[in-house]
Amino acid sequence: MYAKSDKIYHTMLLRRRFCKRLFFMVAVFAVSFYISVLLFGDLKTPRVIKLTDLDRCPACYGVTVCPELYSNQIIMESSRDWHRLFNVKNIFYGYTKSNRRVVLKKLAHNWELKQFDQNLCKTWNLRWNCKPIHILNVSNIEEKIMNIIKYNVSSPDTEPRKGLVLCPYIKSFYDLIYPVLYNKPSSNKKSDFINLWTMLSINPEPIILQIIPKSKGWRVPAFGGVCGRLEVVAYEGEPLSTLRHVAWHRRLKYANDILAAAMDFTFKHDRFRFYFMDWSLDNIVVNENDGITFIDLEDVVVLDKHISPGKDLPDWYQRYARESMGSGFTFSIENMCKHHLSDHNIWAACYLLAGDENPLLYPIPNEVNVSRPHFDRLLNKCLNGDDRFRTITKLQHVITDMLLDEKIIGFGDIR
Ligand SMILES: Nc1ncnc2c1ncn2[C@@H]1O[C@H](COP(=O)(O)OP(=O)(O)OP(=O)(O)O)[C@@H](O)[C@H]1O
Ligand SMILES: *[C@@H]1O[C@H](CO)[C@@H](O)[C@H](O)[C@H]1NC(C)=O
Ligand SMILES: *[C@@H]1O[C@H](CO)[C@@H](O)[C@H](O)[C@H]1NC(C)=O
Ligand SMILES: *[C@@H]1O[C@H](CO)[C@@H](O)[C@H](O)[C@H]1NC(C)=O
Repeated sequence: MYAKSDKIYHTMLLRRRFCKRLFFMVAVFAVSFYISVLLFGDLKTPRVIKLTDLDRCPACYGVTVCPELYSNQIIMESSRDWHRLFNVKNIFYGYTKSNRRVVLKKLAHNWELKQFDQNLCKTWNLRWNCKPIHILNVSNIEEKIMNIIKYNVSSPDTEPRKGLVLCPYIKSFYDLIYPVLYNKPSSNKKSDFINLWTMLSINPEPIILQIIPKSKGWRVPAFGGVCGRLEVVAYEGEPLSTLRHVAWHRRLKYANDILAAAMDFTFKHDRFRFYFMDWSLDNIVVNENDGITFIDLEDVVVLDKHISPGKDLPDWYQRYARESMGSGFTFSIENMCKHHLSDHNIWAACYLLAGDENPLLYPIPNEVNVSRPHFDRLLNKCLNGDDRFRTITKLQHVITDMLLDEKIIGFGDIR
């Protein structure tokens, strides 16, 4: 009852704000970032300015980190031009005044951004030669956002989904984005919503990084902010896929953290579960303290665990255990969305450790397999068994125990 009226209140509040006059909104929007340029900017940083595509705002990710970029508090590393030429992934590196290394990400390939811009006017039913600022003039932004992320549990998608999927019901949306919208002093809610729509259309990573921030213990990159079509995050290390030669006991430590992250994504948030769809050793990086970070948060199913299930969700209170769906990395969003709890993250973590494609922990050193034969068995059980929640707890105990074992630490470089 309580929560329900709360939601209605949110909606009403938003509607009222939307009704403010256009003039005011355009003015506030323009002023909010031009002032920072005037105050701090020496505009002698053409590379960064060209990268940000600020002229695409408000069809951009936002402007929170523009002052730092334009006042040279974040400086791009000069990479050689041939490198630029092949940088199709649109990843750039830099460092802050305090010498913290950062990654500047455009969050999409250039052709994807181009396609997005070409469709912009049509998407919003504006004149063919419209400017992004004209989107401030439209009224159905929230509806458009919902259409991108909603998942209808009664008539599930047949096409594969990308990006952020929110389920089982779309009305959880305002609670989900609360940390993104209401944590900042911005007074222009309409352009905030257009920014949200843009990120959800291109890459929701900046949204996810604010909902599950590193500062609250999530194993994700520290979020620096956004400026135009650029996201700034902390550099968090080298991909695990390039570190498969390191000593086995170090890989065991990474494995322990990967399992802990799988549990966190499933249980740590008090309202939502985050089922990541893109588990791979390329998307996990390791820092100099052997801490791991998940860097690619583009594709995620967000499940609200505190809904009241309707007739369309008869099995909501049952757990969903991944069925055997053939080899390789496959899963069912439909099944995840129809149950309050699924073991997807746990299976995916075990797949990285012990699955078919370059498993992190295999081969297990013979000494280990001989002294702890149950370890290999538990890994297999996590891949193919039915109660993964029980198995992962046991697995975590065994690994913790092994990480304290001098004999295992003493092995050095065994492969
Ligand atoms: N926070 C970070 N710390 C360190 N390196 C990073 C970080 N973010 C990205 N990288 C580097 O940039 C590369 C590409 O990043 P990311 O996976 O986000 O881009 P992508 O275009 O989505 O790649 P793909 O779609 O192929 O997974 C990563 O493999 C990693 O080497
Ligand atoms: C948008 O702004 C124009 C003026 O620039 C105005 O005439 C029009 O009614 C507004 N609304 C829409 C939906 O275009
Ligand atoms: C979901 O799909 C069913 C059947 O196609 C439809 O009746 C229902 O209105 C849809 N629900 C939403 C929220 O779109
Ligand atoms: C571990 O030893 C058992 C026999 O005790 C064997 O069946 C299994 O294949 C071994 N596992 C590895 C990873 O070497």
